[in-house]
Amino acid sequence: MDFFAQQWASYRAVVEHDLMEHQAVAAATAAALEGWLTAREAGALAPRMVDLGCGDLALLAPLLRRLPLGAYTGLDLTAQVLPLAQQALGDVPYPCQWIEGDLLRWANEASDNGEEPVDILHSAFAIHHLSDREKHTLLESLRSRIAPGGLFIWVDVFREAGESRDAYVQRYLQRIAAGWPQLSPEQRDHVSQHLATYDNPADRSAIEAAAKAAGWHWRWAWTGAHRAEAMAVLTPA
Ligand SMILES: C[S@@+](CC[C@H](N)C(=O)[O-])C[C@H]1O[C@@H](n2cnc3c(N)ncnc32)[C@H](O)[C@@H]1O
Repeated sequence: MDFFAQQWASYRAVVEHDLMEHQAVAAATAAALEGWLTAREAGALAPRMVDLGCGDLALLAPLLRRLPLGAYTGLDLTAQVLPLAQQALGDVPYPCQWIEGDLLRWANEASDNGEEPVDILHSAFAIHHLSDREKHTLLESLRSRIAPGGLFIWVDVFREAGESRDAYVQRYLQRIAAGWPQLSPEQRDHVSQHLATYDNPADRSAIEAAAKAAGWHWRWAWTGAHRAEAMAVLTPA
């Protein structure tokens, strides 16, 4: 197995054993999207959705297949996941676009180019790789990309208010070591190394304040059992 396949197989095992509560995330995402769709004005155009860090769509595909979308764009930094996502989604009655790219660059470039606003932005477990400054820039850029009345669903890991990155990483590593026996030692190692090297979750309270300053209304729509995984629903203020 090459490096990507090893890392992705470890992530798949985490999802399959529901170690990061992906089942609850999927249910909360469906509730947020379906509630928003129901509340839209009759006769509104079918919404365009962009998924930042779409991954292989293993979890989101069943929901995407039943949503009355006007278009879907899946964007991911890792080229290898895009054909997996396309295959998981299968045939849908709306146009799909697959972009290999960086989500922050997409947000910045799209707002510069005056592209059509997006009705639904979605990102799950991807933004925590950005630095705090990059997250703030992203929130500002996405604010100029969202259509009036649009919806941004941000699922991710977050730090407790006032918690340091080190303290967060240490408690997450302990959680993996003590509570993830379904993974092989090698898989636990992959996840732990990735987390310790790349993860930079936002502080819950600081990011909420930054989002509000960037013109978003913020609502915590779901919080997992481990003081880390959560879903925020952002709408233009
Ligand atoms: C943990 S996976 C989550 C995949 C999927 N959203 C899910 O919830 O199962 C994170 C995904 O985000 C992508 N990613 C990470 N940083 C990114 C960036 N800066 N721009 C675009 N994609 C990124 C990774 O390649 C990976 O596919």
